[in-house]
Amino acid sequence: LNVSLIGVPMDLGQTRRGVDMGPSAIRYAGAVERLEAMGYEVIDEGDIEIGISEREVSADTNLRNLSAVTEASTKLANKVHDVVLQNHFPLVLGGDHSIAIGTLAGLSDHYENLGVIWYDAHADLNTGDTSPSGNIHGMPLAVSIGLGHEKLVNIRDYAPKVKPENIVIIGARSVDPGERELIKEKGIKVYTMHEIDRVGMTKVIQDAIIYLRGKNVDGLHLSLDLDGIDPLYTPGVGTPVPGGITYRESHLAMEMLYESEMITSAEFVEVNPILDEKNKTADVAVALMGSLFGEKLM
Ligand code: ARG
Ligand code: MN
Ligand code: MN
Ligand code: MN
Repeated sequence: LNVSLIGVPMDLGQTRRGVDMGPSAIRYAGAVERLEAMGYEVIDEGDIEIGISEREVSADTNLRNLSAVTEASTKLANKVHDVVLQNHFPLVLGGDHSIAIGTLAGLSDHYENLGVIWYDAHADLNTGDTSPSGNIHGMPLAVSIGLGHEKLVNIRDYAPKVKPENIVIIGARSVDPGERELIKEKGIKVYTMHEIDRVGMTKVIQDAIIYLRGKNVDGLHLSLDLDGIDPLYTPGVGTPVPGGITYRESHLAMEMLYESEMITSAEFVEVNPILDEKNKTADVAVALMGSLFGEKLM
């Protein structure tokens, strides 16, 4: 299997600087070497070019940096699309979570019925109407089901990218009121920290896999926000929420996803080296990549 690594040095989906250095930090932590040591051929496709932050907020929207995010998402979508055409596995490095808009736009028309695992403290299901912040990194999952600003929803000229019933959120513990309503209305599957505490990660992943197989997904994208993990292990994120998934639970989850043989693409987002402690968060990202790609002791 060939793995195509795509860096997205994007920080325009939120307001804290530094997350644009995420791809460098993850490369520095040894992403390429780790996968090569496991026998994969890794093609580092370099970074997507990102525009600059807009000073003025435009009158017709409360979304920050809408045009720059739209432009970057379109470039990323086209790149991801090409990589899948070549039968390579797209491994996208963020950047803030708004990059998932582009990743999913590039992936989804290769599949009849794409599934998504959203590993995150947040649901990222806000629209301009429900967002408390105007930050687009809180909106990518809503955009992918066709809700939100039409510029974002229609990237690569089709919508929606994903069916709500093909989404599984894991690790949620900070969900806004509007997001909660949407989850109920659309019947989106969510395993909050409550479920993880109560039945354990093993059962959560087993259930998620059974659920997604039942939906007949023909591809499965893992969108992993490092803030899904407890900030004890991944302090280098812009929106940390205490009480998260542990390091061991996360390895277990990645190993089980590898064993399922369902994962066809992945992205690791929200690594912010400025907020980090000695690149700890990027190190965790690379360690989890190892497990997701089948690294085992024996
Ligand atoms: N729900 C909050 C918002 O809409 C926080 C979103 C955080 N998202 C993330 N990808 N870290 O602003
Ligand atoms: Mn090739
Ligand atoms: Mn998050
Ligand atoms: Mn997120």
